[in-house]
Amino acid sequence: MSSFTADRACALACDAADPLAGFRERFAIDDPALIYLDGNSLGMLPLGTAERIAEVVRREWGTGLVRSWAHWIGLPARAGDLLGSCLLGAAPGQVLVCDSTTVNLYKLARAGLAARPGRGVIVTDDDNFPADRYVLAGIAAERGAELRMICTDLDGGVAADAVRAAVDGATALVSLSHVAYRSGALADMAEITGIAHDAGALVLWDLCHSAGSVPVELDACGADLAVGCTYKYLNAGPGAPAFLYVNRRLHTALRQPIQGWFGQREQFRMGPGYDPVPGIGRFLTGTPDIAGTAAVEEGARLLAEAGIHRLRDKGMRLTGYLIALADAWLAPLGCAVASPRDPARRGSHVCLRHPEAWRIGQALIRNGVIGDYRTPDRLRLGPTPITTRYSDIWDAMDAARRILTSKDYEDLPAEPAQVT
Ligand SMILES: Cc1ncc(COP(=O)(O)O)c(C=O)c1O
Repeated sequence: MSSFTADRACALACDAADPLAGFRERFAIDDPALIYLDGNSLGMLPLGTAERIAEVVRREWGTGLVRSWAHWIGLPARAGDLLGSCLLGAAPGQVLVCDSTTVNLYKLARAGLAARPGRGVIVTDDDNFPADRYVLAGIAAERGAELRMICTDLDGGVAADAVRAAVDGATALVSLSHVAYRSGALADMAEITGIAHDAGALVLWDLCHSAGSVPVELDACGADLAVGCTYKYLNAGPGAPAFLYVNRRLHTALRQPIQGWFGQREQFRMGPGYDPVPGIGRFLTGTPDIAGTAAVEEGARLLAEAGIHRLRDKGMRLTGYLIALADAWLAPLGCAVASPRDPARRGSHVCLRHPEAWRIGQALIRNGVIGDYRTPDRLRLGPTPITTRYSDIWDAMDAARRILTSKDYEDLPAEPAQVT
């Protein structure tokens, strides 16, 4: 098992040597026995974020009232710049915190397609997140474009060669996830962006599962557009606003489809026609969610303090440990790893495949281990580098081993039909 041994003492030794161990104390932990491996769905609550939201509500809103707009107005861009500098490899003036991932995806994909007149193909892959596929299909239908699907291996993720084979002179936009939501496979952003550019297309990256878990280098990769959420590794809370990135070289050429007044030049002149500001601000729509954006800023500050490279290093080690224990203990019980084995090719979550994945996941929850399930037969486990301990991984895998051996899931109901 590579650098790990199968005894719990090894996990405890890794915890003792973990340079990020102290960050766990800065989160709300109401049940110390709970093992939370679902921060890639909803991150835990940082104590500083709870305080900041209380401050925004009580003092900035309660006392400051409408006067607080004087500093609130710049918050989407300030939080965006912070995200850009500490996590996304984006120079200032290219990232905004606003709207949801789905809405931002629509705004940027629609703008990207329109920026390539005469080209009518959008390329994505059939394992991209459902919201992405649905939005792109909607845009294709609306604009009379073709949505071209790359057929992607569920466990291995989208390969650069498959993108090369899919793009041509008719391609306007390539839209892909950087880290696959199911397998955790990490796409090669630099290579794929280069392939799309060689074909004359723009690229739109979905960073939901990479922002805060892997270092992203948007500017260095020459990326055009990106979106992502903040309620996973950024720990900004359920429904917190998402972010968008538009490379500076595209600001003038791109016109987003939602002509909101927050993107308008001299907004409070209430002019007769839409005339968007020249910079990134033109990608805003309506009144921003201030408490949510403040939570994003707090989440980004915390990750910046931990350092994205240290987080990445720990994420690779935690997932590597999980895979090593799964190979040793769960594979003989019929549970196989369904994520890339090369740490450089995966984000910070791992899928395990078993025909009874749904019921095993429910049994784990019954035993105090929260992961989640993804179709068709995957147990998805997401160690969050800033909060997860090596001993959590050992304990979770030990619980899975006991459940699989005893079949202590057979009393649970089968997967409900509506789960996706
Ligand atoms: C990869 C990915 N893209 C898009 C979305 C959609 O985000 P939202 O529902 O916040 O718009 C999600 C949600 O989990 C996601 O994981």
